[in-house]
Amino acid sequence: PYRLVCCSTVGPKFTLPLIGAFWTSVTKLGLHTKPRMPPCDFTPEKYQSLTYDRVLEVHRLHLPPVPTAYFPKPLLLHQGHMEWLFDHEGNRYLDCFSGIVTVSVGHCHPKVNAVAQKQLGRLWHTSALFFHSPTHEFAEKLLALLPEPLKVIFFVNSGSEANDLAMLMARAHTNRTDLISFRGAYHGCSPYTLGLTNVGPFRMELPSGLGCQSTMCPDVFRGPWGGSHCRDSPVQTIRKCSCAPDCCQARDQYIEQFKDTLNTSVAKSIAGFFAEPIQGVNGVVQYPKGFLKEAFKLVREREGVCIADEVQTGFGRLGSHFWGFQTHDILPDIVTMAKGIGNGFPMAAVVTTPGRAYGQFKTFFFFLMQGHLGLFSKQVIKEENLQENSQEVGTYMLQKLAELRDEFEIVGDVRGKGLMIGIEMVKDKMGRQPLPQEEVNQIHEDCKRMGLIIGRGGIFAQTFRIAPSMCITKPDVHFAVEVFRSALIQHMERRAQQNS
Ligand SMILES: Cc1ncc(COP(=O)(O)O)c(C=O)c1O
Ligand SMILES: *[C@@H]1O[C@H](CO)[C@@H](O)[C@H](O)[C@H]1NC(C)=O
Ligand SMILES: *[C@@H]1O[C@H](CO)[C@@H](O)[C@H](O)[C@H]1NC(C)=O
Repeated sequence: PYRLVCCSTVGPKFTLPLIGAFWTSVTKLGLHTKPRMPPCDFTPEKYQSLTYDRVLEVHRLHLPPVPTAYFPKPLLLHQGHMEWLFDHEGNRYLDCFSGIVTVSVGHCHPKVNAVAQKQLGRLWHTSALFFHSPTHEFAEKLLALLPEPLKVIFFVNSGSEANDLAMLMARAHTNRTDLISFRGAYHGCSPYTLGLTNVGPFRMELPSGLGCQSTMCPDVFRGPWGGSHCRDSPVQTIRKCSCAPDCCQARDQYIEQFKDTLNTSVAKSIAGFFAEPIQGVNGVVQYPKGFLKEAFKLVREREGVCIADEVQTGFGRLGSHFWGFQTHDILPDIVTMAKGIGNGFPMAAVVTTPGRAYGQFKTFFFFLMQGHLGLFSKQVIKEENLQENSQEVGTYMLQKLAELRDEFEIVGDVRGKGLMIGIEMVKDKMGRQPLPQEEVNQIHEDCKRMGLIIGRGGIFAQTFRIAPSMCITKPDVHFAVEVFRSALIQHMERRAQQNS
């Protein structure tokens, strides 16, 4: 239940008898109630470019009219340093979304920057007609992190392109057409991958996705089935079940749905099945333990190949393992990766097994910086123990957020693993209906105002997503949780005011 005693960051705790009185003091106290940001010794340069209004104008006139920017007054970012971002006015933010789960080791990480600068001075481009050793070095080191027989890598430029290639490989390899992916899945928005991406707003009124079928997402919080120990997370749902520890009725029910798709919507034999180990864009949705293992088995019975999309989950983010598929105890035939692989540099890869049709594909595009940046991002993950940090700091954050879930009726679910965290906002816990967007927007805005950047996900944009650079610290997490709590309190106050 929502409690009125609050503001643990203010030093001495104070209790106010009236909701109205508290609200006034929040506005009046302003800075005092604002959780204090951990220090940062980095000083950004002074912003000297286009004025804010000019940027808005150019955007309105010349950039795509898609309302993708967060906040009514979008942030104009100027500089980044590790987990911090600075806007054009020099305000500092704790970046808990890292450019949509992309900046894996920290903005402008000095070691990664240094190799990028060196490579820029040495050689930019050679095409795939010649060799350049950092690529080979990176290929070898990256593949050492993948189990046999995943030992062949194709470098590309984006996650969409990686999945395009994986779709083509699956089809060419099997000589079949049908591909299955989950509803809510995001695998890219190139014309080819749009068939796999089952997120309404990305679909267009154009023919797309021939041979792509969707299947029910086994979402143990929002879906029809789910219980109290379904998922691989330090935090379970609020739903109850009476399953014995080694069984999961939710998993069995969702597997029935998967079988139903196989029986009704695809040919006898199929090209393959794509899955993210944890869904990102859909709001950090986790499946019941054992689901993917069983699904992979069913797909292979249909002669299909199994593809793990590690674009968000890979590179140590989940803490317990370097790759998300390892958390499900499965071995994919193809693994696609992007985002964290290059710490924000446009690079991606498809890893698969040698031989047969897979080997016939040529590397499509190539940029020398890729090898170098990939190599060093990966090296930094190891040197700075960022996977361990994800595990430790992420688990700590999940536990802290779970306390907020228990405290506030509108926090329906807290889930995830390591530093891939979702907070699903609801009208009330029993109904699990999404909290209306305007309300979620306001909480989002309040977090930003207090210096915290978080993301959104889910088809109703009802889920907050937290996926910072993996260099984030416990004091940072403490700050983030305090800000989020403060935003929730302000929300409850607004509600109480409206109702009085
Ligand atoms: C799981 C997943 N797959 C694929 C993609 C597409 O990657 P890109 O944006 O690099 O094309 C994304 C991007 O958000 C993603 O989250
Ligand atoms: C691929 O499948 C088609 C249709 O089933 C068939 O006609 C063709 O011979 C197959 N090609 C190969 C190389 O197996
Ligand atoms: C799918 O088809 C198989 C074989 O006909 C059948 O045994 C099974 O019960 C079906 N399952 C579902 C969920 O339709």
